[in-house]
Amino acid sequence: MSVNILHCPVMKNEVLQSFPITDCNASCSMIDCTLGEGGHSEMMLSAYPGLRIVGLDRDAQIIKKAEERLSVFGDRFQSVNTWFDDYLRDHELGTVDFILFDLGISIFHYQESQRGFSFQKKEEILDMRLCVDSSLSAYEVVNEYSQDDLADVIYNYGEERYSRRIAKAIVDARTKNPIRTSGELENVIFNSVPVNYRYGRIHPATRTFQAIRIEVNKELDRIEPALDAAIGCLKPKGRIAVITFHSLEDRIAKWTFKKHLAMDKPDIVLLNKKPLEPTREECEINPPSRSAKLRVVEKLGT
Ligand SMILES: C[S@@+](CC[C@H](N)C(=O)[O-])C[C@H]1O[C@@H](n2cnc3c(N)ncnc32)[C@H](O)[C@@H]1O
Repeated sequence: MSVNILHCPVMKNEVLQSFPITDCNASCSMIDCTLGEGGHSEMMLSAYPGLRIVGLDRDAQIIKKAEERLSVFGDRFQSVNTWFDDYLRDHELGTVDFILFDLGISIFHYQESQRGFSFQKKEEILDMRLCVDSSLSAYEVVNEYSQDDLADVIYNYGEERYSRRIAKAIVDARTKNPIRTSGELENVIFNSVPVNYRYGRIHPATRTFQAIRIEVNKELDRIEPALDAAIGCLKPKGRIAVITFHSLEDRIAKWTFKKHLAMDKPDIVLLNKKPLEPTREECEINPPSRSAKLRVVEKLGT
C-alpha cells in the first residue's frame, strides 16, 4: 500500500555527509528523534544496509505513516511514540552512532492533521497538540490564559512585535464568544494589527500561530535536556545533527553545544563553526527549507 507523503525532508545530502560510514555494510545505530513521515530515516536506511534506526515521534498519527513507509526495511527500523527528551534521558549511555533532530512540525501537521496548526485551514478546531493525550491544547491557551501570559507567549515564542495588541484583541474577542477555530483566531489577529502589517512579507498570524504551538507542546523547553542527554548516549566519535528552523530553536542548540565545549573536559567538538544552510537549488525546490540551519557535533573519546 502506498503512503501519501507530504513532507519533503530538508538538507538530505548534508545530513548524509554529516553521518559518514567507511564501510556502509558495517552495523551501526541511529536515533531519529523527529521521525515525522520518515523521510530522513528512509534516506539513511537506503544508504547504509548495516544501519538500524529507532525513530521517535510524539504524534501517533504521523508515526503510523512512517511505519508503513519504512516497513520495507523490516526489523532494521523500529518506532517509539514518545517525547524525544524523555526517551533520551532513559537511554543507555555510550551506545549510539548517530542522533538526528529535525525540529518543529511537519507539512503533515499543517495540511492533514486537522488540528488547527494552519490559519489557512479556517474550520479546524484550535488544538495544536502533537500528543492528543496532553491536557493543554491551543483552545485553552487562547481562551483561558490571562492577557499578560498570552502576550508573553506570543512575544517570547513568536518574536511578534504586536504581541500586546494581539493578546488584547484575543481577550476582547473571547469575552463575547470563545475562539474555537483557526479561522476565527486568524481573523482576530488580522484585525488587531496595523493595516500595513496585514499585507507584509508574512501573514500577520504566522508568528502567533507558531508561538501558541510552541507553548502547547513545550517545544523549546525540550531541546536543551534532549541535546544534553543525546551527547551522553553517543559512542566516542558518534555524531549529533540538529536542523533548526527559527532563531529561537537555533539559539538553544548553539548555546547547549557551547556549554559542553566550555566544560573543564569538553565532551564534544563542533564539526562546523557556522551552521550549514540549504543550497539555493534546494530553497527553490522546497521553499520551507529556506530557514533551515544544520549544526553537527562529534563525541570525543576513544
Ligand atoms: C520537521 S518534522 C520531521 C520530518 C522528518 N525528518 C521527515 O523526513 O519526514 C518534526 C517531527 O518531530 C515531531 N516532534 C517535534 N518535537 C518533538 C519532541 N519533542 N518529541 C518527539 N517528537 C517531536 C513532530 O511531531 C514532527 O513529526
